[in-house]
Amino acid sequence: MRKKIIAGNWKMNMSFDEAEDLLFNIVDKLDPNLPKNIEVVVCPPAIFMELATDVADDSLMKIGGQNISNHESGAYTGEISASMLGSLEVDYCIIGHSERRKYFKESNQLIGEKVTVALKNGIKAIFCCGELLNEREAQNHFAIVKTQIEEALFHLDEKSFRSVVIAYEPVWAIGTGVNATPQQAQEMHAYIRKLISGKYGAEIADITTILYGGSCNSQNAKELFANPDVDGGLIGGASLDAEEFLKIINSI
Ligand code: PGA
Repeated sequence: MRKKIIAGNWKMNMSFDEAEDLLFNIVDKLDPNLPKNIEVVVCPPAIFMELATDVADDSLMKIGGQNISNHESGAYTGEISASMLGSLEVDYCIIGHSERRKYFKESNQLIGEKVTVALKNGIKAIFCCGELLNEREAQNHFAIVKTQIEEALFHLDEKSFRSVVIAYEPVWAIGTGVNATPQQAQEMHAYIRKLISGKYGAEIADITTILYGGSCNSQNAKELFANPDVDGGLIGGASLDAEEFLKIINSI
């Protein structure tokens, strides 16, 4: 059965005390009867990872990183490796977020290397893709997403690809308060599933989790998640408030 996921991307927010509060608030209020096919993932800044995995221990909350190095280990000052995350029992890592693409000039090639190193170390990749506003206005959104996926993911073999979650995040919707309409999300998610089917076959396409991200909140989540190809969300701003995040979890 296809997994549904609500993942919170905290980005570069929170002090240690705030992070601790938020983590405990989420864990304490998570529905203990959450259906087995629904996963809740919280992705705090790397410096809070040990705290997060400690709080998450024995709970229904899973922890993810926001970024990793494309290198395995060695002289890469300031970087964090996939195996370091693995050693803390982190389950997921966001890879290729549009903010990394924009501010840190990450290319599809580099993102592909990060995906490979994550999977090799037992970390599932939450791979982000999505077009800029001018690319949508020029009707190029399908072509852009296709290239991002082909160049960063399609080197994977079928077994590895099973550990990839895709997050479609139109860049114009991230942090703007303007979410994609449910129709726009469904249309792109169905397109992505078709691409996967073309490469890996219908069975893999059918079990691949495809999340929507970009100004998703408790007001619009239900309508977005009601679409057959929208399997949950990658939530930024609205994941920084426990009540709001829990409402989004309850919308799936
Ligand atoms: P947002 O961010 O929910 O604040 O728009 C989503 C994301 O960047 O993953």
